Amino acid sequence: MTTLVTGGLGFVGSHFVWAAHESGRRVVVLDDGSAGSVPALPQGVTVVHGDVGDVATTKSVARREGVREIVHFAGLICVGESVAEPGRYFDVNFIRALRLLEVARDESIERFVFSSTAAVYGEPEKVPIPEGSRRDPVNPYGAAKLAFEHALNAFETAHGVRYAAPRYFNASGAHPSGKLREAHDPETHLIPLVLDAALGRRKPVTIFGTDYDTPDGTCIRDYIHVDDLASAHLSALDRLEKGARIGAVNLGTGRGNSVREIVDETARLLGKPVPHDVGPRRAGDPSRLVADAARAHEVLEWAPRRSDIHTIVEDALRSRTTS
Ligand code: UFG
Repeated sequence: MTTLVTGGLGFVGSHFVWAAHESGRRVVVLDDGSAGSVPALPQGVTVVHGDVGDVATTKSVARREGVREIVHFAGLICVGESVAEPGRYFDVNFIRALRLLEVARDESIERFVFSSTAAVYGEPEKVPIPEGSRRDPVNPYGAAKLAFEHALNAFETAHGVRYAAPRYFNASGAHPSGKLREAHDPETHLIPLVLDAALGRRKPVTIFGTDYDTPDGTCIRDYIHVDDLASAHLSALDRLEKGARIGAVNLGTGRGNSVREIVDETARLLGKPVPHDVGPRRAGDPSRLVADAARAHEVLEWAPRRSDIHTIVEDALRSRTTS
């Protein structure tokens, strides 16, 4: 029984590949290499270079490797870029994903786990955000992810491809060994930027807005450790295999941390101040995004274990100083 992992060379994907391998699964990665860097993967994992929308490739991989389940991480991830280039985002994150889902249907692959996002909610109507609350994405990134969730739902009903669509809040941290790390190009995520500024590898980090309606005036996000994301995906596969219907499920902690708290935690860990300045708000940033995580606990029988902010920053720091 083989698990096909698309985007297995990316940040969340590579962490999942390790977790899946360690759980005894046989893993095949399909990746187009667009993440740039190549992470260390376990020995014995086959990596196929290709595009998820290339039906000839995905069909032949599915048949040759005996794929029984798909975990689909591959996709574009920059919210700002999606506003400037919506066509690319709908093409890669929806249309090409749909081609892959059709292959799952045609090859009778019954389990499909898809990286979705809290961006499907847009400006939340209430916080913590439950899965059933209004989905009104405010950018093409979130809109394309939501469109694909709808496709999954319809395929489950019509064709029996059972799915889970974990909606990530702020994926962060790194493998505790330091062997994998978050490395996007360009890097836009807060924690890598704060760490690199603190390590003198980058210019001071700018805090985007200190006038939000939050206790310290900076935005609050629900940071979830990438290893906890990986274990949640494994739980989803196990539950799907047992016949569960999962659908969309938030992956967060139910708590939030402010930008200022991340900067302060980093300074504490390094024992020196983090060079930073304060700038205007970034367009499109809601003040608070925190998951209602109850459904994940219930349907996945899962709980985060490394998602306190100290461990997240510590693991991210280790990954930036050892690999
Ligand atoms: N921030 C700064 N300075 C920076 C970068 C970020 O102050 O240089 C702030 C942002 O304003 C935000 C917080 O740090 O308040 C976190 O920002 P990130 O860019 O790290 O993450 P986002 O919350 O914007 O986005 C993340 C994912 C998206 C996903 C979204 C869904 O990166 O892919 O969560 O909630 F869509």
